[in-house]
Amino acid sequence: MPDDNQTRALVVSQRRALTDSITEFTLQLADGGPLPGFTPGAHVTVQTPSKAMRRYSLVNDGAAPNQYVLAIKREPKSRGGSQSMFDSAPEGVTLQVSDPENSFKLVPAPKYLLIAGGIGITPIQAMAHHLAAQGTPFQLVYCTMAAPETAYLEEMRALGSAVTIHHDNADPEQLYDFWDHFEKPDASHVYCCGPAPMMEEIKALAGFWPEGRVHFEEFKPVEIVRADDVAFTVTLARSGKKIDVPADRSILEAMRDAGEKTVSSCESGVCGTCKCGLIEGDVDHRDSVLLDEERGTMIMTCVSRASSGDLVLDL
Ligand code: FES
Repeated sequence: MPDDNQTRALVVSQRRALTDSITEFTLQLADGGPLPGFTPGAHVTVQTPSKAMRRYSLVNDGAAPNQYVLAIKREPKSRGGSQSMFDSAPEGVTLQVSDPENSFKLVPAPKYLLIAGGIGITPIQAMAHHLAAQGTPFQLVYCTMAAPETAYLEEMRALGSAVTIHHDNADPEQLYDFWDHFEKPDASHVYCCGPAPMMEEIKALAGFWPEGRVHFEEFKPVEIVRADDVAFTVTLARSGKKIDVPADRSILEAMRDAGEKTVSSCESGVCGTCKCGLIEGDVDHRDSVLLDEERGTMIMTCVSRASSGDLVLDL
């Protein structure tokens, strides 16, 4: 969340287990008052109890909200942001939450194909409810491993024949075959949110579709800190301040922990907001933003680390 952005303190007013690993959090102002509205596909950035910023799609109706409802999956290998929501954000806790933003907006179209995999259902189900309420034609394909792992299963079933729910039972032989949906491009706009392999498959299948017709939501948390990561030190060249980056924190988080002013958004290496100049040091670049020619002089502090030794940043 850009530190200069509008944020507000919201209280966790309700937690609801959707599956063994997915919990829905309802956030609202202490007085229950109105919140900024949003459109389907929008997300907010939450400062989690671990202080890591995480983006979560909004699942409720955003026309005139007094709540923001999120569904979060507990990822065993996560670096702590979402994990801390499970462990340290009980009902009654206050969290700082950004205004909603939407980089996955429904554009006007005569019909839509919505594709969700796993927790990717969060923005997609908001779209499905919106389109159903409008009477706009759509199809939704929702893929999960098994029924007990399927968030919002009954809500999606209630949308009727527009929705196909597919369980692959973790068997590659049983993965859903999307080819029929892409074989003949039509006037549909496609919205896809799910695990990386699913999105890669859809990109490949839709390669010959007209440009701009297939939309992806790609801010899924990435494995930013890895088991074999080690601590190192960054020096902020303008002040000379040295900041220790622990093995389990990003540079950005360590700077924030040290009281430095930081600017960020996705914290997943995809948006470019946290880019800064690199003066010295060997970097393990983990972003998907920098051009090859920038990698010697720039670094994305939310994901990248020293590959050996320490770093000097132009900050
Ligand atoms: S905050 Fe988005 S790339 Fe770092």
